[in-house]
Amino acid sequence: MTQNITVIGLQWGDEGKGKVVDAISRRCRYVARFCGGANAGHTVIVGSEKYALHLIPSGILREGMGNVIGNGVAFDPAVAWEEIEALRGRGIHADADNLHISAAANVVMPWHKLADRLSEASLGADKIGTTARGIGPCYADKATRSTAVRVADLLDEQVLAERVAHVVAIKNAVFAGLYNHDEPLDAAAITAEYADYGKKLGAMVTNTGVLLRQAIAAGEGICFEGGQGSLLDIDHGTFPFVTSSSVTACGVPSGAGVPPKAVGHVVGIVKAYTSRVGAGPFPTEQDNEIGNLLRERGHEYGTTTGRPRRCGWLDAVAVRYTADLSGVDEIALMLLDVPGTLESLRICTGYTIGGEPVDAYDASRLDRVECQYEELPGWSAEIEGMTRFEDLPGEAQHYVSRIEEILGRPVGIISVGPRRDQTILHHSALETL
Ligand code: GDP
Ligand code: IMO
Ligand code: MG
Repeated sequence: MTQNITVIGLQWGDEGKGKVVDAISRRCRYVARFCGGANAGHTVIVGSEKYALHLIPSGILREGMGNVIGNGVAFDPAVAWEEIEALRGRGIHADADNLHISAAANVVMPWHKLADRLSEASLGADKIGTTARGIGPCYADKATRSTAVRVADLLDEQVLAERVAHVVAIKNAVFAGLYNHDEPLDAAAITAEYADYGKKLGAMVTNTGVLLRQAIAAGEGICFEGGQGSLLDIDHGTFPFVTSSSVTACGVPSGAGVPPKAVGHVVGIVKAYTSRVGAGPFPTEQDNEIGNLLRERGHEYGTTTGRPRRCGWLDAVAVRYTADLSGVDEIALMLLDVPGTLESLRICTGYTIGGEPVDAYDASRLDRVECQYEELPGWSAEIEGMTRFEDLPGEAQHYVSRIEEILGRPVGIISVGPRRDQTILHHSALETL
């Protein structure tokens, strides 16, 4: 019996989830996505090849792995097909025998991407800074129900035509009335395009909940691959500057269609500092030369949108909160090589407002908190080639140990570079990678 593993981001996304899923999923039979959609951008480096995956699970790069796009995903067939073709073009197998798409997942339609753009433009300075992938509008229609399109609908052209005609009439009226948008959507053209995706992807569409529950019954391991980061969670993140799905370990059962117990061993991915794309509060942000250095050394430009990421110190208050929320068993500390050249590093260990300590993590007050920092010495040695904890400079070892103490959890994995071999197993429950 292989234990299931859940890999989730504990900050604002881009913590290095793709690398960890790739590194630890070898022991599993399936890698399953349960949240988000093409707003994700997961980088995996295999040998000299670099892959940026948006919708396709990171397990696709391992031969023999089953990959599942669960019912909780906002599924964009245009992006999926483009990714599948690009992977095939690079010699990666992606077909009905190793890629399974939930029939119940909601489909990102052209009107969702348009709504995302129009809504953001109308918000002006108050915009959320979304990835413009139509994620929010797709989940909004899921909740509305009568205007939703599910993957199963793509497989029957008659059903699809009726659904699209119904929704397009509503959307055209909304876009014209609300945003003065004068280019109506063409229901017939959309039906034809999406029915074609249905034909191309149809063999991969199945009841993925049944598939995963059967795998659990058979004792096969599943690695649940989180998207985004816990501070972007629709319920528990820095609302309203969040994404629109449940991205913590709490989102796994409903987003993948498995029992809560199936979450298994929870690995929380944490960058050795913090980054954020898009708008919203960021107490430890360093909008200065330190932030610039982290951005340049860490190549902190969005995998999905190319936008420069905002950078700052590690916020242990936030990570303690998100680690508690998901019951994280161990931390994977990523990009430890990046802050290496700094003379000293800071960790935020507490918040105050007007000098008074703030007890609980309260997203609504984040724009007002002052950060209490602990300062630790930096290191100058290049650590990218180090493979054992004991080889790391004493200051880097100390930084890791302090993080363990502050978070009250083991740092199981330490990453010192983007490649598979630049990974140090430390206090991990996983005996090998
Ligand atoms: P994800 O969305 O959580 O999968 O993360 P992204 O792929 O969006 O961003 C993480 C970036 O950091 C990618 O470019 C990775 O190749 C890179 N990366 C991952 N681990 C390390 C590391 O330990 N050191 C460095 N320098 N880069 C890393
Ligand atoms: P991965 O999986 C970083 C952010 C957007 C924006 C907010 C809402 O690669 O870590 P959305 O398009 O979801 O409505 O945007 O969420 N965001 C991410 N930031 N990494 C991601 O995914 C993200 N997915 C969404 O930048 O602030
Ligand atoms: Mg990313």
